[in-house]
Amino acid sequence: MRNIDEITQSRRLRRTRRTEWSRRLVQENALSVNDLIWPFFVCEGSNVASPIAAMPGVHRYSVDMAVRQAEKAAKLGIPAIAPFPNEPAHIKTQDGSYIANPDNLINSVTRAIKKEIPEIGIITDAALDPFTTDGHDGILRDGIILNDESVEMVVRGALAQAEAGADIIAPSDMMDGRIGAIRDALDANGFQHLPIMSYATKFASAFYGPYREAIGTAGVLKGDKKTYYLDPANTDEAMREAEQDVLEGADMLMIKPGMPYLDIIQRIKSQFALPTFAYQVSGEYAMIKAAGQNGWIDEEKVMMESLLAFKRAGCDGILTYFALEVAEKLKNA
Ligand code: PBG
Repeated sequence: MRNIDEITQSRRLRRTRRTEWSRRLVQENALSVNDLIWPFFVCEGSNVASPIAAMPGVHRYSVDMAVRQAEKAAKLGIPAIAPFPNEPAHIKTQDGSYIANPDNLINSVTRAIKKEIPEIGIITDAALDPFTTDGHDGILRDGIILNDESVEMVVRGALAQAEAGADIIAPSDMMDGRIGAIRDALDANGFQHLPIMSYATKFASAFYGPYREAIGTAGVLKGDKKTYYLDPANTDEAMREAEQDVLEGADMLMIKPGMPYLDIIQRIKSQFALPTFAYQVSGEYAMIKAAGQNGWIDEEKVMMESLLAFKRAGCDGILTYFALEVAEKLKNA
């Protein structure tokens, strides 16, 4: 019998890493095109692709152009896309009721893509922030975000999205009770088959900055979102949020932002064993792009490593602005 010292001395953990084929053989996680969800921005007009300064390589597309981009995504094998609207100021109101308009940008782009590229999944963000005059995800009155009134409006928006052809409804507002309310409304209106992907744990994060430029709410937002998004310091509270959404009928859970919250991803996946997603948000994308453009990091390698980290943490998929680039790279690998 060998004693413990002999065993530890003869154990060589580098053996399996010695050759390329062996490293492939022992690899535990891998990123595939099936893991990608591509979030993109929609604006008014036609033939428009306007760049977003803080997100190099990302554009706002008019509906016609978005259809072409969706076609590209579908051809690359990306399973699903997620449109976000840059709505003009004149549609914004205190209650954000334009969310329920069948001709708003999300609904228009959803209809147009479903008609031409039916094979790609469309995940719509049911939230009021593109539609309220103050950029909040809830209705603001006398300095307070009203919960139940906001839920009612989000439900109307979710139904309009379902009617436009959305495949997954993804409420991102963090109001209490929204998942159950949306589930009931979908079921009562013939959409029993539509899954809900809950932005279950969404943190009050500074990483959303570039997104707010992209949808045009950066200069609009009054105050912060701390009374409804989660405190970045809290893990147990994130678990309670996710549990509540599961109890109310969420089919899929999302954690947002992504990379700074890998611990939350891991805990949620192991606790609920539901399809789990991360949103690698605009600020995460911007940091990688900026450092890459400066030659401070190898952008492509960091992009791939950052996405693999989500798989390791337990994600079934990732919303990432890199989706098209990554899908191209995986195809050519
Ligand atoms: C709000 C919403 C946000 C993002 C998507 N939907 C955050 C916010 O503005 O509070 C952020 C996405 C990103 O940063 O990439 N409903």
